[in-house]
Amino acid sequence: MADIGTRIAGIEFKNPVLTAAGPPVRDAQSIIKCVESGVGGIVTKTISTKPAPVPRPNMAALNRARILQMYNTVKNGNQQFYVKTAYRMDQGFINTELWTELSLEQWIDKELPMLKDLGVPLIVSVGYTPEDMKKIVPLLREFNIDAIEFSTHYITPGIITDIIKTIKSIMDIPVFPKLSPHHTDLLVEQAKEAEKSGADAIVAINSFGPTLSFDIYTRRPYMGSEFGFGWLSGPPIKPLAVRAVFDIARAVNIPVIGVGGISTGKDAIEHIMAGASAVGVCTQGIIEGKKAFGRIAQEIQDELDKMGFSSLEEIKGLYIKEMGMGQKIKTEGGIAKLIEQKCTGCKLCERVCQYEAISMVKKEGIRHLFPEINEEKCAACGLCVSICPTEALYLEF
Ligand SMILES: Cc1cc2nc3c(=O)[nH]c(=O)nc-3n(C[C@H](O)[C@H](O)[C@H](O)COP(=O)(O)O)c2cc1C
Repeated sequence: MADIGTRIAGIEFKNPVLTAAGPPVRDAQSIIKCVESGVGGIVTKTISTKPAPVPRPNMAALNRARILQMYNTVKNGNQQFYVKTAYRMDQGFINTELWTELSLEQWIDKELPMLKDLGVPLIVSVGYTPEDMKKIVPLLREFNIDAIEFSTHYITPGIITDIIKTIKSIMDIPVFPKLSPHHTDLLVEQAKEAEKSGADAIVAINSFGPTLSFDIYTRRPYMGSEFGFGWLSGPPIKPLAVRAVFDIARAVNIPVIGVGGISTGKDAIEHIMAGASAVGVCTQGIIEGKKAFGRIAQEIQDELDKMGFSSLEEIKGLYIKEMGMGQKIKTEGGIAKLIEQKCTGCKLCERVCQYEAISMVKKEGIRHLFPEINEEKCAACGLCVSICPTEALYLEF
């Protein structure tokens, strides 16, 4: 069985799946449930000097729940059932939850004391200014916490150094700045600046935005914020997050914690291969419930076993090693090919082909039609391969 333990700034995690700041870690009780689900480590909801003035409504799923193609085996006596257990928001999720609505006093007097023997590393998320840090961090000294993450969501980029130095001057503890993708071209610069100022790891990314979505019949926005603006998270931001992880991991020598759009073990592995040492999950933990954390960790384990890797170490930054340093893979002269046994004749490939290179043809003895690929016309654009529901097509170079 592959070893999926990981280590960041001297902290040992039994698996690389951490909570990311959000509702699943809104208070001690919720945090304990995440630990029971098998999460590798906890990052709390962001704590600040004042409770957040959170507007109503403040969370919306942008599409109706969709079943993930994921089945779990449930045993009942001698019988075995396969049940669909997980749902995800393919169009994403918007929120305007800001930071914690609980007071600093409540975290210090009630919530954090309940997390003393948590059993997994505890990272406290804090925000926002150096002045806030001077008030919050001294109060954290009495707790056995493993690291401090700070959110850069509502601050100007220039004060990251100040914040790191302020925290470090109060407490000798690993500090993880969490970067927001407001200006994606700034991410690498911010990460480098943070590393130079003593950060121990970089967390990337926070939710993306501001974005807007509203009901076309009532013209009511889904968020109660000004103009209905909110922050996008979930599957649509995964490619943005993976690119951020890839860019940052190549630019700094400290570990990266990849956050954004993770709902399966495969998503987590993509982040890790792009250079992350661990991952954070928020939206999936809201939609599916806290069992999502343990499920994703288990899927990472199963997938690594299936792929023949013996540890997480082996896949950390694998994509960087193979691609990032300019190693060329062949990308010219390809053609789409069909695995006949997998084809169901759904015609999707024919419909999406922009080069009219695919036509459906009859085959002796088989009821459905098959795509026939015209080698002259196929431009190897890759679209049919990516959209085929049964993975019946591949590109050959
Ligand atoms: C409802 C909600 C509340 C969030 N609150 C916080 C927060 O308090 N502090 C923070 O740094 N990030 C917060 N986030 C951002 C998440 O931690 C995470 O960075 C982002 O949602 C992307 O990950 P995901 O796609 O797994 O949700 C919040 C996200 C959501 C959806």
